[in-house]
Amino acid sequence: MFKIAVLVSGGGTNLQCIIDAINNGYLKNCSIEAVISDRIGVYSLERAVSNDIKVYVIDKKTHKGKISDEILKLLQDKVDLIVCAGWLSILEGDLIPEFKNKIINIHPSLIPAFCGEGMYGIKVHESAIKYGVKVSGCTVHFVDNGTDTGPIIIQKTVPVYSEDTPDVLQKRILEQEHMVLPEAIKLISEEKIRVEGRKVIIK
Ligand code: GRF
Repeated sequence: MFKIAVLVSGGGTNLQCIIDAINNGYLKNCSIEAVISDRIGVYSLERAVSNDIKVYVIDKKTHKGKISDEILKLLQDKVDLIVCAGWLSILEGDLIPEFKNKIINIHPSLIPAFCGEGMYGIKVHESAIKYGVKVSGCTVHFVDNGTDTGPIIIQKTVPVYSEDTPDVLQKRILEQEHMVLPEAIKLISEEKIRVEGRKVIIK
């Protein structure tokens, strides 16, 4: 069984897509062993509970700077992949080398555009529209010691129209996110991914 832990901070639409992909057989021999949130009261937790998935809250308010160590304690030797799905806290410390190329994140832009420190949620789309880009999209990448800097696994593009608002663009990209995240998990769980430096080779 390919064991997954999902890190969440919000509504959990990306988490829901992973749950659905397991339930409909798209993700074979995969199980979500844990959902970990860095804050209480988010709908992601309700999604997990209603699917009988173990939930943990490592509240960023009380675990300042120690969240990554707590996650490592919880997940070391227990899961094959950690998926950041709408996760907003920085991962750092021993967790990164312990889970080298075993932590992935989904970001709602075409990295390296509109990413990095403080670039999350609707801010990403506001910046893209302000810049006047003609395409945007989403990126699934491995997590390294930086912010949104690890090797890129898959990217999907969407057109950006002059009349787009940030909300409209966010919704268009979210549709792609919900396809590309399960796709990346499937490739990894079926060992179809090889990482050579910054390059991710899909067999
Ligand atoms: C999504 O836009 C995702 O790209 C970003 O967090 C947002 C919310 O995700 N990482 P979710 O609905 O909580 O899964």
